[in-house]
Parts: sequence; structure tokens; C-alpha cells
Amino acid sequence: MKKFLAILLAALMMMSMISFAGAEGVKTYKVGVAIYQFTDNFMTLYRNEIEAYFKTLETDSVKYQLTFVDGKNDMAEQTNQIRNFITQNMDVIILNLVQTSSADAIIDEIVAADIPLVLINREPLAYDADGNTLDEAYEGILNNPKVCYVGADARQSGTFQGEMVAELENHGDINGDGKISYIMIEGDPENIDAQYRTQYSVKALTDAGYEVNCLDDQVGNWDQTKGQELCANALTSYGYDVEVVFCNNDAMALGAVTAITTAGRVVGEDIYLLGVDALEEAVEYVKTGEMTGTVLNDHIGQSHKAVDVAVKLLNGEEIDNYYWVDDVQVNKAYVDSL
Ligand code: BGC
Repeated sequence: MKKFLAILLAALMMMSMISFAGAEGVKTYKVGVAIYQFTDNFMTLYRNEIEAYFKTLETDSVKYQLTFVDGKNDMAEQTNQIRNFITQNMDVIILNLVQTSSADAIIDEIVAADIPLVLINREPLAYDADGNTLDEAYEGILNNPKVCYVGADARQSGTFQGEMVAELENHGDINGDGKISYIMIEGDPENIDAQYRTQYSVKALTDAGYEVNCLDDQVGNWDQTKGQELCANALTSYGYDVEVVFCNNDAMALGAVTAITTAGRVVGEDIYLLGVDALEEAVEYVKTGEMTGTVLNDHIGQSHKAVDVAVKLLNGEEIDNYYWVDDVQVNKAYVDSL
């Protein structure tokens, strides 16, 4: 009996040790994710995918505790949120800056706290002594081995927009006057995505040898309602002179669809409309012909890359400074081939 009790006791002790080791063996990483604005259509898809993808990487012994914060498009608010992340000892931060001009100050604080940082979506650029941005890699990323940027090259999405117009039978010159008359609806002008898309969509046309004529260039701040309003105004002012509507993103292009329909205009017949992001609704419009094209801004590829790099940082692995995710042209031929 004594012997039996001793064996039972030993077995119980072993079992408790095993379960204790199990609980001990679970590592939970704290991940802070700061998004510039929750109401942004594209960043909502991106944010949800970050969450979903982190979940798929969890194991019995590794968990990720995610904290998402909404910068509400206010840099002061986001700065406070980052300071809270630092106080909370986050193991890694994923940051979609409200203002890339504040990158220096924010990165310094995060680096000083020795927290690895993955910047996403809004690329901070190098700048000269007068504060003008330069087309060069950014020192705050290059000089910090635990800081990187994950994103798409906005020159590519802009170029793709222009190329989709150049590839049309009339190359966007509907009235045959020898030039492509367009309006541009821009995202937040401080954002390099907006600057590059504006510049490179037109450059693709001029590089291909076409003459262009800018009728109107306005800031719609990535916003659907603003996009609709600006497009409606331009159609009232310039009527059938408007041959191409370039929108820096799909949210604004969705607004433009409404403005175009309301004005009695028909995409593919008397006007062309281009966006960027390939939001589900936009792809549907490309399919039905209500939009000429969009560009896949791959939120799945980008969010997965950002998470993979964050995990590398958590594991103490070395990382690159920059990770680029390719865009894809989404025109009618492409959609039909899916
Ligand atoms: C997207 C926009 C989005 C912006 C936010 C861009 O890359 O195309 O839809 O509003 O990022 O920074």
C-alpha cells in the first residue's frame, strides 16, 4: 500500500510538473499596431488582415497579444499612442504614420526604448536641409537595424494607371484633339503615395509620347465623399472636355463613379476612370465597365510581409531595411481572365 501511494504521489508530482512546464512554456508577445485612421477603407482591410494573419501564426507555445489604436488622422494623438506603447513595453510596434514628416521624432523615441519597429503604408522619405523630400532612402530606416519599411512602390501604381490609359484604342484621347485632357483627384498631399501616383500616372503617358492637358488637380484626401464632390465640380466646369479621371485611390474613384453617373456620362464611351487599391467594389466596377481600371495595392501581401518581419524581429533575427510588395494592373481584360 505504502509503495502504491509513493508511486501515485510521484506520478501526480510529475503530472503537475508537466502542466506547470506547459504554462511556463507559453510565450506571449505584445504587439502594438498604430493605424493612421480606422475609417480609411484600404487601411481597414490591411488592419483586419494583420489581425487574421497573426492568429494563423500562433502555436501552443507562442501567442500574440495585439493592441490596435486609431490615430484619427491626428499626429498629436498618434504620438501619445506611441508613448503609451513604449510605457506598456510592447515587444514590437507596427506603425502607419499619420504624418511622415514626424517620422524622425517618433522613430527616435521608439529606438531609444529599444523596441523594434515596422513602418507600413506611408513611406518616410529622405529630405534636404530645407526640408524638401528627396527621392532617396530614409536615414531613420537605414541607420537603425531594428527599423524597416514595408510597402508598395507608389511610382509603380501611378505608372500602371497611365499605362492602362495608353493601352486604350484611342489612348484616352476621346475627342481626337491630339491630347489627353484629364483631371487628377489626389490623396493626402503629404503622403508619398499621393505625390508619386499623381506624377507617375501622367509621366507614363508623356513617356509613351502622348500629349496631356491637366484641366483640374485637387486634393480629395483619400476620401470617397470628397472624391465625388471634386469630380462632380470638375464635370460641371469642364463637361465633355474631361476625358480621363485619375484618382489616387479607389475610395475617391468610387465617389467619382457616382459623380460620373449623375452627370449622365458613360465610362468607356465618353470618359475614362482610374483608381488604385483594387477594393472589391472597384474590381466589380471594372468588371461592369463603370471603371476603366484600378491597380492592386496588395494589402494581403503587404500585411503578411509586415507581420512576418515583425516576427523575425521578435525572434531577434536580422532584417532588411526595405521590403517591397508588387502592384498589379487591374483592367477589364485582367478581371475577365480571373
Ligand atoms: C491607399 C489609400 C489609402 C492610403 C492611406 C494608400 O496606399 O491607396 O487608399 O487611403 O494608402 O495611407
